[in-house]
Amino acid sequence: MTAIDRELVEAARAVRERSHSPYSRFRVGAALRDAAGGIHLGTNVENASFGLSICAERTAIGRAVTDGVRDFTAIAVCADGHVPTPPCGACRQVLMEFGPGMTVYLAGEQGADGPVKVLTAADLLPEAFTSFTPGGATEPK
Ligand code: THU
Repeated sequence: MTAIDRELVEAARAVRERSHSPYSRFRVGAALRDAAGGIHLGTNVENASFGLSICAERTAIGRAVTDGVRDFTAIAVCADGHVPTPPCGACRQVLMEFGPGMTVYLAGEQGADGPVKVLTAADLLPEAFTSFTPGGATEPK
């Protein structure tokens, strides 16, 4: 990994400390890199009504878009546990909205010093639904 990749993974690892996850006790941090090099952070935010919990990846996307940024080159996800955690299906779909080519770094609690998987958003969601024809069937691109 380059120094810049490590920086993104370490940003995800650090923000994981801010996770609100009293129910699962599984802390996740996400760090998105935008096309200008800026970093946008997110954590998972759980709720007593469990189904309302939001993942770190979608928190980061929501923050960045709210800040007027929607052109991303990479995201790092860093979760508790030694093994890198793959994003859930909902987050994969949301990442695809902002670019199938986005690099996805998946790390465990050791961050950049532990095992890191490197994929793309498209790798994580083959045959993705990305557009539709109003009133008609989905057309292949
Ligand atoms: N979680 C994430 O934030 N991102 C993932 O990629 C997988 C799962 C969160 C959701 C929930 O707060 C906790 O991890 C346990 O599922």
